[in-house]
Amino acid sequence: MPQILLSEGPNNGVRLLTLNRPEALNALNTALLEALSEQLDIAETDPETRALVITGSERAFAAGADINEMASRDVVGMLEDPRVQHWARIDRFVKPLIIAVNGFCLGGGCELAMRGDILIAGTNAQFGQPEINLGIMPGAGGTQRLVRAVGQSLAMQMVLTGEAISAQRALAAGLITEICQPELTIERAMAIATTIASKGPLAVQLARESVRRGADMDLAAGLRFERHAFTILAATEDRREGLNAFRNKRKPQFSGR
Ligand code: HXC
Repeated sequence: MPQILLSEGPNNGVRLLTLNRPEALNALNTALLEALSEQLDIAETDPETRALVITGSERAFAAGADINEMASRDVVGMLEDPRVQHWARIDRFVKPLIIAVNGFCLGGGCELAMRGDILIAGTNAQFGQPEINLGIMPGAGGTQRLVRAVGQSLAMQMVLTGEAISAQRALAAGLITEICQPELTIERAMAIATTIASKGPLAVQLARESVRRGADMDLAAGLRFERHAFTILAATEDRREGLNAFRNKRKPQFSGR
């Protein structure tokens, strides 16, 4: 059986994961989410991996949760759905996650993409939460992360009409940071990830955590968290190295210590 998730690297600190169920437009079934969870475990414990890129195919990043699998589950089946643990595993991932989207990015696919720290997309990308067309609603963060990313009016329109938005609209709304030609999307995501991978990993991890956690806190709590994280970095060799390198006009060599 062909592999449903391809893993390459790490190269220059970056690992690339490619969703690979072309026959179902990368619909996220349990097996694919389980494979993704396993790869996140590997990436997280590997010190050589400093950033991760997740992509799909040129036709689809992912067209949603696997509808056939979902149809076979009743309410008890949904409560016991093992995919919930895999979604939670992605939420716990601690390294920078760059998402490179081409084509359809719908339903659970959009919910996966929105778990990324940075999203970039090809000109052919379409983002949407079409669950309403199936008589259901987003269930893996779609109603929550989308509103935080694009604001209530656009999130409401997407969730209640089920209509997708273009890459251009997603850029204007702040859902993604860049648009490129579809054949360059992965290259561009890898370049961003490589830049991040060249920085001090402790600083990257704490800065990332500060941005992510702060989004769910009030400003005073977020500022406190930031100050603590900033202060902790004063104990690292990487901070000493970074400041020394600047003063000696050379490139820093970060060790992750
Ligand atoms: C299972 C899927 C699928 C999906 C596409 N396929 N999306 N299979 N689950 N989500 C399959 C099709 O059945 C078809 O298989 C093959 O992929 C190609 O798709 P087509 O429909 O023939 O392609 P096209 O005409 O180009 O249309 C593309 C599309 C359409 C617009 C993306 O496939 C579509 O509407 N898909 C469903 C999108 C969706 O509703 N997503 C939300 C799912 S619910 P065959 O065997 O016929 O060739 C969800 C809830 C998340 O995500 C909740 C998490 C807890």
